[in-house]
This record gives sequence, structure tokens and C-alpha cells, in this order.
Amino acid sequence: MNELEFTVLTDTQLDIVKATVPLLENGGEALTTHFYRLMLDEYPEVRPLFNRAHQASGAQPRALANGILMYARHIDRLEALGPLAAQIVNKHVALQIQPGHYPIVGACLLRAIREVLGAEVATDAVVEAWAQAYRQLADLLIAAEGEVYDALAQAPGGWRGARQFRVVRKVPESAEITSFHLEPADGGPVLAFEPGQYIGLSLIVDGEEIRRNYSLSAAPGRRGYRISVKREPGGVASNYLHDRVAEGDTLSLFPPAGEFTLDGQESGKPLVLISGGVGITPTLAMAEAALEQGGRDVVFIHYARNAQVQAFGGTIDAWAKRFPRFKAYVVHEHPATDAGRRPDATGRPSLAQLRQWLPAGGDCSAYFLGPKPFMAFVRRALRELGVPDSQARYEFFGPAEALN
Ligand SMILES: Cc1cc2nc3c(=O)[nH]c(=O)nc-3n(C[C@H](O)[C@H](O)[C@H](O)COP(=O)(O)OP(=O)(O)OC[C@H]3O[C@@H](n4cnc5c(N)ncnc54)[C@H](O)[C@@H]3O)c2cc1C
Ligand code: HEM
Repeated sequence: MNELEFTVLTDTQLDIVKATVPLLENGGEALTTHFYRLMLDEYPEVRPLFNRAHQASGAQPRALANGILMYARHIDRLEALGPLAAQIVNKHVALQIQPGHYPIVGACLLRAIREVLGAEVATDAVVEAWAQAYRQLADLLIAAEGEVYDALAQAPGGWRGARQFRVVRKVPESAEITSFHLEPADGGPVLAFEPGQYIGLSLIVDGEEIRRNYSLSAAPGRRGYRISVKREPGGVASNYLHDRVAEGDTLSLFPPAGEFTLDGQESGKPLVLISGGVGITPTLAMAEAALEQGGRDVVFIHYARNAQVQAFGGTIDAWAKRFPRFKAYVVHEHPATDAGRRPDATGRPSLAQLRQWLPAGGDCSAYFLGPKPFMAFVRRALRELGVPDSQARYEFFGPAEALN
């Protein structure tokens, strides 16, 4: 799109937006919580896009508040937003956010600004500056998302919107994780993806549409995709998939997206993959792709609660036998006495363990994923072990959150 087509703010509007940063720092979350309530109550058409659990936990309002705050801070140098913008675009693409959704969000955000900040603070000038700022950001995101949608549709095996995939195999991997092997129902080829990416899934559960993301848990290059889903107690999508989706059924998939991917430029460095629980899924695709490609050491560290819930033990052992440059360490928090893979260690994750297993000096490419406290620990440990932040990447299985 031509740059001139984008909305531009006046200097006064820029100043107003920057001046409201402290207000957002203090009240951003209250604002976005109110905003979501308004939007979900009054616009039923956008409800399927949003995960109610993320609203309830406050994680999604926090992620949006952070997005808006970062935007207001960088309004006069939007290029500094780069990585955050890429994260938003990927998340939006995987859930199929469309240009027509933006005016709904804009209208609710402005109403929330008026209602939360009150008429004394949210004067007409403030609201107009924010309206203009929102249009500018919306223009940028719509254009970036449009480019990704076009690229996904035009690539070999690509598609736009939802495509039907048949469940060709459903494989229990542990007491709580089950894999679904999916192939296009139209028999056509599938789009290649980057190891670490995820798909969007649209399900109709009890007459209501819901959308969720699932990481692709096997390397690209096959006839289809594999996702591996943990049953969440009380979870709508995961229980539906486990209990009500059988081999032969079809599922609606949106094309793969995501920026938590193996970086080719680092490929000389040892690859270190650290996961907790179902966070193992993208690291499986990454490990498999790196092993198939060869040329680097792969250290695979996985933490599970116990042997019953630990998935993919067989795969990990088979890789360890087949690839001399693959080293795997599995830790169970609670050792079990009965059947199951014997862990390499037991108990809580520790710095001493990671020191022993990581390449000395910390010059590696690390990727980690798991529950938030686990990720906070891994990030601290990697810093302690000398892994530069630029070589330590992570993702959340939900709205992005602060790790500190
Ligand atoms: C990029 C990405 C990749 C992902 N990859 C995977 C993957 O590979 N494998 C995987 O298993 N998951 C993955 N996820 C998570 C997945 O998208 C779902 O969030 C997960 O399956 C839970 O969905 P659900 O519908 O079963 O649970 P939800 O219905 O969303 O509920 C989640 C939890 O919140 C509770 N809850 C729901 N509503 C409320 C409420 N109103 N108040 C309080 N508590 C509530 C539920 O009881 C449950 O414990 C990924 C997520 C992202 C963002
Ligand atoms: C300028 C406008 C917008 C901004 C700044 C914005 C920002 C964000 C941010 C920061 C996230 C979290 C990203 C992450 O967790 O990694 C997010 C996720 C999301 N956004 Fe937007 N967004 C905008 C517009 C929209 C619109 C128009 C829609 C559709 C109505 C939308 C729907 C979603 C959904 C469904 C998610 C994922 C929610 C979840 O995980 O539950 N967004 N957005």
C-alpha cells in the first residue's frame, strides 16, 4: 500500500497521545477490561474470536493494554514497535482478524476512554487524538495482515480463511495429551511452515463457534500437519477435541502463523530446546527439523509432572538412538513407581541441572516454553549461564505476558 494512504496525526495530536502515556500506565488495564466488556456484550459477531478464559484471567486485557502503551510511547517512531507488531500480526492472522473488525474495536476503545477516564480528562481533543492514533495503528496492522493473508493464499499448498482437514489418526501421547494427524480433505498439498508456528482452529461447540491456536508438533514436509492437545480441566476446545472428535472427522483450520521460529542465521550454534508440559509441542517440530537438516548439536530438555503425563518419550528416545548430536534430558517433578519412561532427573528445575546440560559459556540458540513461572525461571537461568537475551526466545500459549 502507498505510504500516503496511511492516516497521519498532527503535531498537537502526537503531543496529546504522548501526554496520555502516564494515564495508560496507571489505568490501561481498567480501560481495556471495560473495553472488552463493552465489545463482547454489544458485538456478538466478534465473540468467537476471543478466548473467554483469557479475559477472565486478565491476561488478554493486560496484553492489549501493553500493546496500546507501547504504541503511545513510540507514536513518533513506530519502527521501534517492530517485534510487538509482528507478534500482534501473527496472532491476528492465526485467528483470522479481518479489516471489518477494526471499526468495532475502535468504537469500543474510544467509548471506553470516555467512560473510564471521564469527561474532564477525556476531552473532545483527547478522544479525537486517540481516534486518529487508532486509525493510524489500524491502517498499519490491516496492511501488514493483508500482506500475510495474500502470501499464505498464494504460496504452494496455501489457502485463505478456513480449510477442511480430516483427522487421519488420533494418537494418545500421555494421560492428558493426544495428537491429531490432519490431512487436507480436498486431497491437495499443504502449505510449508516454519517449525515453531501454530495453526488456528475453528470449532463449533454446542452451537457456538470458538477459535484456538495449536502449535504444529511435527516438522514440515509431510502430507499434513500434527497438533498435540492437552486436556485442560474445564477447557472447552481441548475436551471437545479429546472426547468428541474422532478419526475420519473434519476440522476447520486457518493457515500456519507465528514468529517463534527457528532462526536460520543462527544455525551454526547448538540448539537448546527447553519445555515444560505441553510446551513441548513446538520444540518437537524444531528438534525434528534441525535433526533432519543436520549440522548442529541439539539439546532437548523436557520437564513433566510425572511419567503418566509425560508425552513423546518414545520419540525422544528414538531420536537419541538415531542422531549422535541429539542429547535429551527428561525431568519428572514427581517420580512414579509404575510404568513409564525413566527420567534423567527428578524434582523441580534447577540452575545446577541446566548448567550441566547446556553448552559451556552459553553460546547457543535457546527456545523455551511452558507455564509462566517455569518460563520466568528458565529466563533467569539462561541469563545466569551467559546466554544472551537475543539468543533466548520464548512464546506463551496465550496472550503474551511480562516474564519479570
Ligand atoms: C500460540 C499458541 C500455541 C498453542 N499450542 C498449543 C499446543 O500445542 N497444545 C495445547 O494443548 N495447547 C496449545 N495452546 C493453548 C490452546 O490454544 C488452548 O488455549 C488450550 O487448548 C485451552 O483451550 P480450551 O478451550 O480447552 O480451554 P478454555 O475453555 O480456554 O479454558 C482454559 C482454562 O480456563 C478455565 N476457564 C475458562 N473460562 C473461564 C472463566 N470464565 N473463568 C475462569 N476460568 C475459566 C478453564 O476451566 C480451563 O482450565 C496454544 C496456544 C497458543 C496461543
Ligand atoms: C489497533 C488495533 C489492535 C491492537 C493494538 C491489538 C493488539 C493486540 C495485542 C497486543 C494482542 C496480544 C498479542 C499476544 O498475545 O501475543 C492481541 C491479540 C488479539 N487480538 Fe488484537 N489488536 C487490535 C485489533 C484487533 C481487532 C480489530 C480484533 C478483532 C475484533 C482483534 C482481536 C484479537 C484477538 C482475538 C486476539 C487474541 C486474543 C486471545 O488470545 O484471547 N484485535 N491484539
